[in-house]
Amino acid sequence: MNILGIHGSPRKNGNSDLLLDRCLEGARSRGAQVESIRACSLKILGCLACNKCRQTGQCVVDDDMQKVYPLLARAERIVMAAPVFFFGLPAQLKSLVDRVQACWSKRMLAKSAEERKTYSSGLGYLIAVGATRGDNLFEGCELTAKYFYDALDMEYRRGLFFRNIDAKGAILEHADAMQQAFDLGIRIANQL
Ligand SMILES: Cc1cc2nc3c(=O)[nH]c(=O)nc-3n(C[C@H](O)[C@H](O)[C@H](O)COP(=O)(O)O)c2cc1C
Repeated sequence: MNILGIHGSPRKNGNSDLLLDRCLEGARSRGAQVESIRACSLKILGCLACNKCRQTGQCVVDDDMQKVYPLLARAERIVMAAPVFFFGLPAQLKSLVDRVQACWSKRMLAKSAEERKTYSSGLGYLIAVGATRGDNLFEGCELTAKYFYDALDMEYRRGLFFRNIDAKGAILEHADAMQQAFDLGIRIANQL
């Protein structure tokens, strides 16, 4: 099982980082092959909406996203972790998400409308944290994650969501968040 973790926070060793690291440890403990990237450490421009990918399924922008496409393509499971920023994903991660427009184009070219109703490239998950408590806190991030995975021909399977977590490392004071993250990693690695 090949799993890709995507760290979405600009805050290194922050709450979502700690959760994703623990989740990936859980997956590794079950023999999964794990890779991870940090959106903030990559130079990824936003999508230019040039639509060239509609003809070729490839993005013409030559930046670090070109190193990310093969990782996305070979991952059987992806776990994206992020803090809520203004009810959405942090900008650095959102640039990466927007650039999978090329993968969506590739999928449009490869699959009929009927075939596109099913997902054949694996499963995707989201770990998200936010400082406030509202019922709709994760709606924006979840919708973006759902369609990110759709573009990658992967099925979105939700994940873990923690409200009322703000200060760096506050997640470590949560009763069982780190255990939940480890268990999620195990579940992901065990899914055939
Ligand atoms: C620019 C910015 C925007 C934020 N927007 C929200 C928000 O809309 N809702 C919320 O509950 N928390 C918001 N937060 C708080 C973060 O989600 C929270 O601090 C989180 O625990 C940070 O996770 P991290 O340590 O993984 O970066 C925001 C923080 C920043 C810096």
